[in-house]
Amino acid sequence: MVVGQAVQRLNHPHAATFIGPGKVEEVTERVVETAADVVIFDDELSPRHQRELEKALGDGVKLLDRTALILDIFAQHAHTREGTLQVELAQYEYRLPRLTRAWTHLARQAGGRAGGALGGVGVRGPGEMQLETDRRVIGRRIAQLKRELEEVRAHRGRYRARRRKTGVPTVAIVGYTNAGKSTLLNTLSDAGVLVADQLFATLDPTTRRVELPGGGVALFTDTVGFIQKLPTQLVAAFRATLEEVTEADLLLHVLDVTHPQVMRQAEAVRETLGHIGAGDKSIVSALNKIDRLPTPDAIPLLAAEFPNAVAISALTGEGLESLLARIEGVLEAQMAWLDVLIPYELGELVDLFHRRGLIEREEHTETGTRIAGRVPHALVGRFRACR
Ligand code: GTP
Repeated sequence: MVVGQAVQRLNHPHAATFIGPGKVEEVTERVVETAADVVIFDDELSPRHQRELEKALGDGVKLLDRTALILDIFAQHAHTREGTLQVELAQYEYRLPRLTRAWTHLARQAGGRAGGALGGVGVRGPGEMQLETDRRVIGRRIAQLKRELEEVRAHRGRYRARRRKTGVPTVAIVGYTNAGKSTLLNTLSDAGVLVADQLFATLDPTTRRVELPGGGVALFTDTVGFIQKLPTQLVAAFRATLEEVTEADLLLHVLDVTHPQVMRQAEAVRETLGHIGAGDKSIVSALNKIDRLPTPDAIPLLAAEFPNAVAISALTGEGLESLLARIEGVLEAQMAWLDVLIPYELGELVDLFHRRGLIEREEHTETGTRIAGRVPHALVGRFRACR
């Protein structure tokens, strides 16, 4: 239960306590008055800020910054091995420089997954020696987690390469957290992805095959929800997941048009895409949750703001046919024109052209099959020997 809020505008954070001394006093008084258990800062605190604020607020009050809170939520929602590894790594990297007696004490109170995994590191007793040991143990665990994640990443890379070979285009679903990404993938494919009205319900990408209205197919991948000021530890830890985005043929940006801050959320998504090197990908925008709009009046205005915008309801299925048709159109526009003579001994390439391409002309000659038409860019290389 939120029992109070305080805001301060400063040009620079206060060197010791982040907020100014007067504000610290005000917050401390409010904490006592309201018997608050936790104080949350909507920003990342440096280890020093954290220490000084803990001292000021006194024992018995838990202090969380934005990053710690987000990591906590992610930890609760990670449901596959990869997700768990990613969150654990991010938590340790966040905690390592903040490891003090006070913090380890708080870490135990928080009872986070990461604390448990280490068998209660930092709670065995006070003292600098203990702190040093804790740091070493955590350092080793970080190195191990990184190795494991590297394996996951390599595996995912191999899987992606195999997927590429089939030439089926990939669509990565991106969007602010809670925009309706999982719901959309579910409705499109009956995928059974976890849907929950909780922040960051999806921490692991799930890929499903979806048929498009014109007869093509595409692989849709659900990705992690984006947020403003995504902690840097998380961006690093979720690299494998975010690679799905950078490697996709097209991004499907899902927006919750009923959210009062939809424009800011869209901006945060665009920023994150820029950070991970996916800023110039083709985008189809799904203006989602239109079933909750009192009138459709605002839709054309919003649609004008986003590339390839289609109004939908992931819940009722309204607009999904148009959305898929738009996706198919954009994917087709990305296909490359090919005019090739395929020798008869490479008959599997004729087959591939038929399955994945759009054929305009086909004729059988003495030396092979001559085909002209369009294929996904990803497949062009397979026909190299035929030109
Ligand atoms: P994260 O995993 O947090 O990134 O969320 P997400 O974008 O995957 O959102 P999710 O699909 O979990 O949906 C969030 C909430 O919005 C759920 O309660 C959904 O039922 C609801 N929701 C999604 N699409 C629609 C829609 O078209 N209409 C309405 N009314 N609710 C929707």
